[in-house]
Amino acid sequence: MTADGLLCYCRPGFEPELAAELSERAAEAGFPGYARTERNSGYVQFLGAEGLGLTQALPLHTLIFARQKLRLIADLTGMDPKDRIAPIFDALAGGGRYGDLLVEHPDSDEAKPLAGLARAFGNALRPALRQRGLLTAKEDPRLPRLHVCFLDGDHALLAAGDVRDSSPWPSGVPRLRQSSEAPSRSALKLEEALLTLLTPDERERLIKPGMNAADLGAAPGGWSWVLARQHIRVLAIDNGPLAESALATGIIEHIRADGFLWTPPKPMDWMVCDMVESPRRVATRMAEWFANDGCQHSVFNLKLPMKKRWDETRMCLDLFERKAGKPLVIRAKQLYHDREEITVFATNPEARARAL
Ligand SMILES: C[S@@+](CC[C@H](N)C(=O)[O-])C[C@H]1O[C@@H](n2cnc3c(N)ncnc32)[C@H](O)[C@@H]1O
Repeated sequence: MTADGLLCYCRPGFEPELAAELSERAAEAGFPGYARTERNSGYVQFLGAEGLGLTQALPLHTLIFARQKLRLIADLTGMDPKDRIAPIFDALAGGGRYGDLLVEHPDSDEAKPLAGLARAFGNALRPALRQRGLLTAKEDPRLPRLHVCFLDGDHALLAAGDVRDSSPWPSGVPRLRQSSEAPSRSALKLEEALLTLLTPDERERLIKPGMNAADLGAAPGGWSWVLARQHIRVLAIDNGPLAESALATGIIEHIRADGFLWTPPKPMDWMVCDMVESPRRVATRMAEWFANDGCQHSVFNLKLPMKKRWDETRMCLDLFERKAGKPLVIRAKQLYHDREEITVFATNPEARARAL
């Protein structure tokens, strides 16, 4: 059955947040429709709206709870396990060519056993698509990527991703490997934030050896260590102890203080914050740093242990923007390494423009 609309992946359990976000953003953009999802499924479909216009109106980097955003092509139910390829050809008939193929499944407990099928089916589908001229011989980023998302052995969603506006990773999950020296697993969170929330240009120009940073709520030192590996000098603020591997970098100074009260001795290039506190309190403190010119760029985490997480997210981001009292570039995402939380990148557009 052909379908139109969006297919987005999210962290299992966060479907209501993604559904609310898509519904609100689509309505604002003039594409009213409805979200269809199931709790803990790891995906949301947004239906009843014209997919092409909607996907252009909602770039992935502006969606907080979506790990991936694709345009739906078809909902294939009752697939014959002996020939799952034929219905895919039928659904793609009359469409264009694709520059890449990803066969995947949502990141849910229920769908994880489909990993083997996805791998094997991808190996069979790829040459078959090429033979029909539906897939280029080599990856071509100018053409859309075809996604086959298995929901069950006999049920798959077909969708297309614009390479410039979708995640390159299967299921939208980045494969980052933790270094054995990293003081904490949280290190991966900052690594993913820098990879996901900054453009390649920003990563190159805004993160420079010799810069300085403050890390609020630094212990045991994962985020400080990630910055130190980029040769950034870090003031690590936390009453708790730092790991030996963080101190061994030689450019992380531990300051035992309250991150809500401590002020930097001079303006910092970067301020990062992973303090476990109420998100409104963190958002307010982050805004004060920008209002006081305490930093130019920031990555901070907002913990969302409450029920109405979409409402709280919007509230906190509005609060942050308003209290900063100056225009900022703000991007937020629930990263793969985020649990009940989101991560925000904020930058002073003047400093950013000077660097780029
Ligand atoms: C999730 S951990 C940070 C992990 C760290 N980002 C890493 O990569 O290793 C949260 C830290 O926030 C600290 N924290 C909470 N409230 C704080 C405050 N008011 N001032 C300073 N640190 C605080 C805690 O002591 C804890 O070490």
